[in-house]
Amino acid sequence: MNNPARFTEEAWAGAAGVDTLIVNIGQLCTVHEPELEAAGPRRRAAMSELGLVAGAALAVGQGRVLATGSEAEVVARLWNGAAIPPGVAVVDAGGRAVIPGFVDPHTHTVFGRTRQDEFERRIKGETYLEIAAAGGGIHASVADTRTRTEADLTRLAVTRLREMQQWGTTTVEIKSGYGLTLADEVKMLRAARSAADQTRMRTVLTCLAAHEIPAEFREDRAAYVRLITEEILPLVAREGLAERCDIFCEPSVFNLEESVVILSRARDLGLRLTIHADELEAFGGAVLAARLGADSADHLIRIDQAGREALRGSGTVAVLLPGTVFTLGLTGYAPAREMVDEGCAVALASDFNPGSCPILAMPLIMAIACTQMRLTPAESLVAATLNAAWAVGRQREAGSLAPGKWADFVILDGDDYRLVPYRAGHNPVASVFLGGQKINA
Ligand code: NIG
Ligand code: FE
Repeated sequence: MNNPARFTEEAWAGAAGVDTLIVNIGQLCTVHEPELEAAGPRRRAAMSELGLVAGAALAVGQGRVLATGSEAEVVARLWNGAAIPPGVAVVDAGGRAVIPGFVDPHTHTVFGRTRQDEFERRIKGETYLEIAAAGGGIHASVADTRTRTEADLTRLAVTRLREMQQWGTTTVEIKSGYGLTLADEVKMLRAARSAADQTRMRTVLTCLAAHEIPAEFREDRAAYVRLITEEILPLVAREGLAERCDIFCEPSVFNLEESVVILSRARDLGLRLTIHADELEAFGGAVLAARLGADSADHLIRIDQAGREALRGSGTVAVLLPGTVFTLGLTGYAPAREMVDEGCAVALASDFNPGSCPILAMPLIMAIACTQMRLTPAESLVAATLNAAWAVGRQREAGSLAPGKWADFVILDGDDYRLVPYRAGHNPVASVFLGGQKINA
């Protein structure tokens, strides 16, 4: 059944400002339902509502969605039965499906070298924590990142952001966290900003100075917490280098007390919050995220009942990162099926990083979410678009093709969105549009 056409007020009043019109869309997934919008991120059955339209058109003006609906209705409404004016660029989608660009709400895109050596060691039997204890893991990337220039990190990040765009991602969150000094955290955030500017990727930047206790502070953790709260976060907030603060909240990294100190300070400085929570142990990270009104609690592999209840009753989005479980060769995925059924707002992210998840392709993350966590294809799409936008505070601009939002969308190479998670490993993207303009070849 087709959803009704939707227009911005200006477009409703008559063809105002349409510069691009996508026609012949076999299946348009707007992921937009006006009556669900005010309720916050999607939960339960609302996670399956894709706002589908067959035989659709999508009108764009000045980079924003102006109208969506059946092609006949959109064209009739915009031009009152007259021909499409010659100034409008018409793009023929060839009967294929169109979905919103993916929002990847959790990545560590700025780093130097990759860590395939550790991948091999894990396959031969060492664990992630054993490798970390031997100076590998995050510490290895910190040592490497500190030797790199901002220009070098930018160049590497540009390549990765371009690759993400080829896989349909149009908005990405990027964290610092491999610097762990004032200068190196700033260097990472500046590199992320430059790489985003060069690729026109839409980004949300997050300071993750609390990713690990750096080796030089092992004997004096409190001093590193003070460096974060008294120097790094104030500078980041003052200079607008990031809009959020993240922390690796785990018994072996930052404990709950330290997490409260760091996150409260960040909140006082005007930064929004997100937490790496309950990844290795059920530890109260999700409960803390809900209590502090964080944008999201991420990972949640070991989340317990208290954490699930806290998230269900809050606006904090549960961001699940099944690519890490897959990459680390583990078996315990986060209880996504139960969390959706209970009413948690679930989103998906790649967690793209050199250690626990070198996957940056959101279609593959959706495939893993479907086969390993029993999300349906529709739920996985909402989790990778609209709920992911909520998870990074971009729900007003991204994540769905609602009139007024950015015209960031993907024309698939097939006529059914379910092909995206179904064909794991295949890139289902035919073309990517950012602000109504095609960005890939
Ligand atoms: O999200 N959990 C902590 N940090 C990353 C791993 C980073 C790394 O191994 O370099 C994660 O999985
Ligand atoms: Fe992470």
